[in-house]
Amino acid sequence: MPTEAPITAPQPFRTNAIDRLVMRRADDWHVHLRDGAMLGAVAQFTARQFARAIVMPNLDPPITSVAAAAAYRSRILAALAPSDGFTPLMTCYLTDDSDPDEIERGFEAGVFAACKLYPAHATTNSRLGVTDIRRIYPALEAMQRIGMPLLLHGEVTGKEVDIFDREAVFLDLVLSRLVVRFPALKIVLEHITTADAVAFIESGPATLAATITPHHLAINRNAMFEGGIRPHFYCLPVAKREHHRLALRRAATSGAAKFFLGTDSAPHAIGDKQAACGCAGIFCAPYALESYAQTFEEEGALDRLEAFASEHGPRFYGLALNTERIALERTPHVAPHRLGAGATELAPFHAGASLNWRFVGAADERD
Ligand code: NCD
Ligand code: ZN
Repeated sequence: MPTEAPITAPQPFRTNAIDRLVMRRADDWHVHLRDGAMLGAVAQFTARQFARAIVMPNLDPPITSVAAAAAYRSRILAALAPSDGFTPLMTCYLTDDSDPDEIERGFEAGVFAACKLYPAHATTNSRLGVTDIRRIYPALEAMQRIGMPLLLHGEVTGKEVDIFDREAVFLDLVLSRLVVRFPALKIVLEHITTADAVAFIESGPATLAATITPHHLAINRNAMFEGGIRPHFYCLPVAKREHHRLALRRAATSGAAKFFLGTDSAPHAIGDKQAACGCAGIFCAPYALESYAQTFEEEGALDRLEAFASEHGPRFYGLALNTERIALERTPHVAPHRLGAGATELAPFHAGASLNWRFVGAADERD
């Protein structure tokens, strides 16, 4: 008698899907928290999702001294509740005149965690950035000696260089020389956007790492032009072609310790984005972990999210891993078009789009 196939209830399309994701609390290794009313409006979004964050120094005027960084750190903490348990890690903005002694003093005092190099005129508030990398060699010597990381906005700024090529040209003209000239200097190439950068980091020395944003994993450059000009998808470095996005997704989800989470959440008031000359920056802090989780799930790599979000960064910086645990739940929801806090209205990344995961905070007894 022929055996009949057992009759089973129809299975949902998902296989082996999980509905609750519990992991070590994450850190954000690149964020813009701004100052004043904007700081008050945005800091909570980062503190809610992350235990620590590397805070960018591109205020106006920029953070170039230990005293300014300590005061800024106090303002960040004052904008949050102590119960948030959030630690801002401060950075020093490099200029042509950076003083190596001030940098070393700030690092030894535990105020500066790293220095940030903005090539002059590369991005928001970078007019006081470095005009020629050789001008900061004394600072880089000191940083190499004391083990202080250099964080790079990796783009050249020459008018003759196409905006979509600025990162690749930076690798050729600047970074390739820097790693030879300073072989022991820890360097983070921030918010990478190209397959070229992925290849450079993978084949580079162990002193070299990179952060990857949620938006560069989720969109390619078409997003800026879909049906019209879409300023909320404009950031720097600008999103590139699809094959670059796919290379970033492969790198982030590969498990390689050289790649870690850095949101580059960069809020600007809606009126400053939707303008004749709109500001660069994507406000991705509110749904950052949801966005990364979506990418990792699409790549079949949810089991590697924790290492990318919570382990590779602190290991590179030589800091302890967080011990608390957080949870995300599979709860499909649509991100709002606007998030308001006080008088400030902001458009979050994923506005109006649906997300599969929701960050729910600290893990509980269920976990
Ligand atoms: C950042 C900002 O607005 O401060 N903008 C951005 O597009 N990412 C600066 C930066 O990181 O380039
Ligand atoms: Zn940034």
